[in-house]
Amino acid sequence: MVLHMVLVILSLLPLLEAQNPEHANITGTAITNDTLIWLSGKWFYIGSALRNLEFKQAVQKIQAEYFYFTPNLTDNTILLQEYQTSEDRCVFNSTKLGVQRENGTLSKFEGAVEHVAHLKVFMKHRGFMLAFALEDKKNLGLSFYANKTDIAPELLEEFLEAVRSLGMDESEIIYTDWKKDVCSQQQKQREPERKKTEEGP
Ligand SMILES: *[C@@H]1O[C@H](CO)[C@@H](O)[C@H](O)[C@H]1NC(C)=O
Ligand SMILES: *[C@@H]1O[C@H](CO)[C@@H](O)[C@H](O)[C@H]1NC(C)=O
Ligand SMILES: *[C@@H]1O[C@H](CO)[C@@H](O)[C@H](O)[C@H]1NC(C)=O
Ligand SMILES: *[C@@H]1O[C@H](CO)[C@@H](O)[C@H](O)[C@H]1NC(C)=O
Ligand SMILES: *[C@@H]1O[C@H](CO)[C@@H](O)[C@H](O)[C@H]1NC(C)=O
Ligand SMILES: *[C@@H]1O[C@H](CO)[C@@H](O)[C@H](O)[C@H]1NC(C)=O
Repeated sequence: MVLHMVLVILSLLPLLEAQNPEHANITGTAITNDTLIWLSGKWFYIGSALRNLEFKQAVQKIQAEYFYFTPNLTDNTILLQEYQTSEDRCVFNSTKLGVQRENGTLSKFEGAVEHVAHLKVFMKHRGFMLAFALEDKKNLGLSFYANKTDIAPELLEEFLEAVRSLGMDESEIIYTDWKKDVCSQQQKQREPERKKTEEGP
């Protein structure tokens, strides 16, 4: 994703089944123009709690990650431009996510297969969460994002609460380590390129 997180997870997880009222706190909210405008800009990937072993191994390689969301309100997409540090190297990637407003989900097409995650925003503390495969106890997962790397205690508590509400343990959370970021420095060279892609008509 995101990180490569988002990318990896959206690429691999199956389409979610109908919503479960048990997860209403995570899945209940539609995405509006306001949500999309709020999501615009720079975000940091903080960590995730994932049951699926393959995804877990994939995110363990992520040392740090930040990314930019550029939503298009007209065609219901979000351009994702991510800067991931893994193995002490910076990897840049760019892709488009789909927005299913009524369902409150973000998706990514991999060939003909659509992969979906539920979006839950914490507007007050400027953070959000993606939830994967909530219907499947062996594969479910959450990942966390914030507008800064030293996240507010209240935001962390929201994340922990969500982890617990899914029956997972806090010890299952894999955090990134911002000190390991090597992308910020390199991005300066890419900045003009990014600005260009972001320019609207
Ligand atoms: C919303 O979710 C329902 C139930 O999972 C699904 O059938 C429908 O295709 C989804 N809509 C969009 C736009 O993804
Ligand atoms: C939903 O969130 C509220 C407030 O954060 C909490 O009191 C309630 O227990 C949650 N419900 C579920 C099913 O997790
Ligand atoms: C959302 O924004 C788009 C693009 O500006 C606009 O066409 C649409 O009417 C807006 N929808 C609502 C519900 O305001
Ligand atoms: C970028 O993302 C695409 C689509 O997920 C993936 O196929 C590709 O391997 C990624 N590139 C890098 C350098 O990670
Ligand atoms: C992140 O959000 C908080 C809460 O809204 C705000 O106080 C802070 O200035 C923001 N930080 C950055 C780097 O945008
Ligand atoms: C948003 O999407 C519409 C429809 O695909 C496109 O015409 C427009 O150029 C896009 N806007 C931006 C800022 O990319």
